[in-house]
Amino acid sequence: MELTRTADLWWKTAIVYCLDVETFFDSNGDGHGDFRGLTQKIDYLDRLGVTCVWLMPFYPSPDRDDGYDITDFYNVDPRLGTLGDFVEFLRTARDRGIRVIADLVVNHTSDRHPWFQSAREGPDSQYHDWYVWQDKPPPDAKKGIVFPDQEESLWTYDRKAKRYYLHRFYKHQPDLDVANPAVRDEIARVMGFWLELGLSGFRVDGVPFLLDTAGSHDAAQLPDPHDYLADLRAFLGRRRGDAVMLGEVNLPYKDTMKFFGDGDGVADELTMCFDFIGMQKMYLSLAREDAEPLADALRERPLPPRDGHWATFVRNHDELTLDKLTDSQRQEVFAAFGPDKDMQLYDRGLRRRVPSMFDGDERRIRMVYSLLYSLPGCPVLYYGEEIGMAEDLRAEGRLAVRTPMQWSSTRNAGFSQADVKDLPGPIPQGRFGPEHVNVRAQEGVAESLHSWIRHLIDRYRECPELAWGRYEVLDTDESSVLAHRCDIQGTVVVLHNLADREVAPEITLDGVDNSQVLVDLLREGETEVSTKGKATIELESYGCRWLRVTER
Ligand code: GLC
Repeated sequence: MELTRTADLWWKTAIVYCLDVETFFDSNGDGHGDFRGLTQKIDYLDRLGVTCVWLMPFYPSPDRDDGYDITDFYNVDPRLGTLGDFVEFLRTARDRGIRVIADLVVNHTSDRHPWFQSAREGPDSQYHDWYVWQDKPPPDAKKGIVFPDQEESLWTYDRKAKRYYLHRFYKHQPDLDVANPAVRDEIARVMGFWLELGLSGFRVDGVPFLLDTAGSHDAAQLPDPHDYLADLRAFLGRRRGDAVMLGEVNLPYKDTMKFFGDGDGVADELTMCFDFIGMQKMYLSLAREDAEPLADALRERPLPPRDGHWATFVRNHDELTLDKLTDSQRQEVFAAFGPDKDMQLYDRGLRRRVPSMFDGDERRIRMVYSLLYSLPGCPVLYYGEEIGMAEDLRAEGRLAVRTPMQWSSTRNAGFSQADVKDLPGPIPQGRFGPEHVNVRAQEGVAESLHSWIRHLIDRYRECPELAWGRYEVLDTDESSVLAHRCDIQGTVVVLHNLADREVAPEITLDGVDNSQVLVDLLREGETEVSTKGKATIELESYGCRWLRVTER
């Protein structure tokens, strides 16, 4: 029997909220957000309906990649607090029924990590083989550079070791060699440590890079990288049965599917993969005001193996990557949502947030979040999205979308009492600045974006069909309308109008007839269905409707 509906598959209906402790809330006025500050804000997250917090890296770090460059995997960066503060935070979150997962960044370390410092001593160091070295860079050393504005090669010469080391990201982030069994053991120890303290799993950074052993002289020792990922997952499951691995895998669907694993039809590698393809196609659809690209992606998107799940998102802490679109499609999205060079990054993405991309048009912003909470998958919200925070292009690169949380219109957006120069980033000015966009002005206010997001979250939790159901994209006679239905016991039908015109598409619902009606879930209302399951659904400009098939 397939046990799919038990609550212990909690990730199937989770509301995930991603935040960086450093920019969330500063409790001691030193300019850095901290665990004590975050703990004070747990009830805020609870009221919003969050059931799982994803913490971006909080480990000791020289902060040359915003904490994705780690010098100690077993500690908390002193700017953010202590391990004691971390545990208190976890305990408080658990008290409110909120789980916590954290970034697991083990493709690389900081070059200042003691392991790398020792590795540089040469082959005599016990840590030398923890990294990937070559005497000469391979001929394809320039292929696949992730940050082309700052790096020229994947291999950099280390004068001390007198050898070249591999770094898939910045040169200050040398890659660990997972072909080395000692490294694999250490990664398990890191996971085990945080699980023991109470984490419910990990967001695994750059999974394809982590598994890639090209360049490693030990590559032959690693039978199959996916066996390794399955081993990690099995270890995770032994240590904590309900823990998850949510993986960053930005590849075409058929390649991403491999990362779920498939042990007799069950996902035995990553529990969840982000839907990067659906996200990119969504922006293309929004730019064109045409549902087709997104509808195609949803039709093409494979069903994960049992217990596996897609994770959906509209923004995250990185640039809005459009790397899987064609050049001309990408240019369409750039033209619509980020025409200035300064808004673009690495020729592949936008360093912007949703409200500014839509020029503050609340109708479109609300529709985008309705998509997030109604498209099948586990919705992941990035901090500040619930109040409509925008980017600050004065910040460098991707930091534009990582500015401090805007709590109120008071000093430093209510984030910190510190001097402006000590803050982790600028506070946006103008129409999206804290005078206009902040939590205090929106929480509990009926017409606010915050209340809309809360409403969507509440409805999502009440509609297991959306999370658990099989979905089907429905045909409509309006090119701007995305219509889909989700079925599990009950049926929920959802429509989004991507265009600035009122429409009334007709849909056909197999298995539904005039003994039933469609009851609105986001507002009051009912729509008749014909004997043949046909219904005409009115949608405002950029409107959306969620409807449940209900007996009369
Ligand atoms: C991932 C993170 C990104 C980071 C990189 C290197 O892509 O999302 O923010 O810079 O990994 O760790």
